[in-house]
Amino acid sequence: MTTVNVSDRPAHDLKADVLVLGTVTSGSGAELAPGHGLPKASAGHLETALKTLGGKGKPEEVLKVPAVPGVTAPLVVLTGLGSAADGAVDHEVLRRAAGSAVRALTGVATVGVALPTEDASSMAAVAEGAALGAYRYAGQRASRPTSGKRGRGDDREAPSTVTVVVEKGRDKAVKAAARRAAVLAEAKAYARDLVNTPPNLLYPQSFTDSVRERAAASSAKVTVTVLDEKALAKGGFGGIVGVGQGSSRPPRIVTVSWSPSRAKASLALVGKGITFDSGGLCIKPPASMLTMKSDMAGAAAVAATVFAAAELGVPVAVTGYLCLAENMPSGTAQRPGDVVTMRNGTTVEIIDTDAEGRMVLGDGLCLAAEAKPDAVVDIATLTGAQMVALGARVAGVMGNDDGFRQRVCDAAGSAGEAAWPMPLPTDLRAQLDSTVADLAHKGERWGGMLTAGLFLKEFVPEGTPWAHYDIAGPSFNEGSPWGYTPQGGTGFGVGTLLALAEGFAG
Ligand code: BES
Ligand code: MN
Ligand code: ZN
Repeated sequence: MTTVNVSDRPAHDLKADVLVLGTVTSGSGAELAPGHGLPKASAGHLETALKTLGGKGKPEEVLKVPAVPGVTAPLVVLTGLGSAADGAVDHEVLRRAAGSAVRALTGVATVGVALPTEDASSMAAVAEGAALGAYRYAGQRASRPTSGKRGRGDDREAPSTVTVVVEKGRDKAVKAAARRAAVLAEAKAYARDLVNTPPNLLYPQSFTDSVRERAAASSAKVTVTVLDEKALAKGGFGGIVGVGQGSSRPPRIVTVSWSPSRAKASLALVGKGITFDSGGLCIKPPASMLTMKSDMAGAAAVAATVFAAAELGVPVAVTGYLCLAENMPSGTAQRPGDVVTMRNGTTVEIIDTDAEGRMVLGDGLCLAAEAKPDAVVDIATLTGAQMVALGARVAGVMGNDDGFRQRVCDAAGSAGEAAWPMPLPTDLRAQLDSTVADLAHKGERWGGMLTAGLFLKEFVPEGTPWAHYDIAGPSFNEGSPWGYTPQGGTGFGVGTLLALAEGFAG
């Protein structure tokens, strides 16, 4: 993992393999972003280089200039900030610019980043983006390829140290913000690693083992308790038992808690953890199945958030419920037409075995509610309809309390995770009426994200603020990397949930 430092040395003096500087658009070209503090000759050299290279200063533009006179680092990397010349640069612009620059580096150990920051929070955005851009998923290669061809695993060495250049490097607030950025980036890397792990290697028990190991290695006290398939059956968790019964690798609900003394509030996080979603007997076509190792991204985000909250000593009790199962077709698999009884006694008629997420989450929400938390959030790669509605980069937020739903959206915004409020129209609830059970578990195709949300609402006690976060699109990047977002698992949701938990501290 990449170490994050802050330094108040002048950027040009920094002893690093690479110095990252910002550029902004200027007329038809680009110029250096203000506040770099370089000697005149160095700045002049870079302005000339920018002209020669045809720089535009736009986001995602990354230009490399070696051997700049007066700069100690042998390589300067210029990263575009866009038209942010006058005034403060948006935090997400800073994150992405730092991320793009660091992502473009190969075979370097130390990186200094000097982007225009004006306070601890913008410095933290730079640190966060740089550390997230340094993420690499090693994959499962037997050996390093000698050719330039790369597969899904990334064999490029990540930089070991990122140093953010700031004016007040010794300031307490700056130090705390840098620490938070490092912990958050590390948590996102953990979530990304879990998502990227192939589904033959990551299954309910191995996911559980990973969480136990991380808890044991944590400097903070995180407790882990596990309900195995026997305990789930005995406890009446018919939803997750039904989803998991087709697989030879049985389901688990893992409870991960950070409970500080004198906690100011309690927050429950429920994560969908389908380690592979084949669709079950209602099997998916191969192309839709290929990315379904990522169907545990909600549970990964929950686990990562609880560890981050603990490391940072957030004065709020945060309890994660990881609903882990593998959705497989077999002779023991659940059938359409089956009726199962959920943890709270509600009976559900199975319509489509590919709507498995809501079944494991329904049980998870019941369990979470039993501890009477102040608020509950579930996070899930729940519906393809989320992607139809909002695309691959924006998550949907629903809930039973408009104020709380807005708090989740605001937390997302502060973390650079795009989220949009969506309704739970009572008119659609009739689609979930069943002729044989309390509930049918699927509605019509149109508005599928909303009927999934309405289904989950049935498992949340009235009066408990609850939000449902559908991250089907943003949790996994099928396209090219951008900003600090790599291909594959993105870690989406960790920033939102951590900011939300911190918000409960008052
Ligand atoms: N895991 C999928 C949803 C999904 C689709 C996540 C694409 C990420 C990318 C979920 O379990 C599922 O299969 N949903 C069905 C629901 C339907 C059967 C009601 C869907 O979206 O088609
Ligand atoms: Mn499914
Ligand atoms: Zn699924």
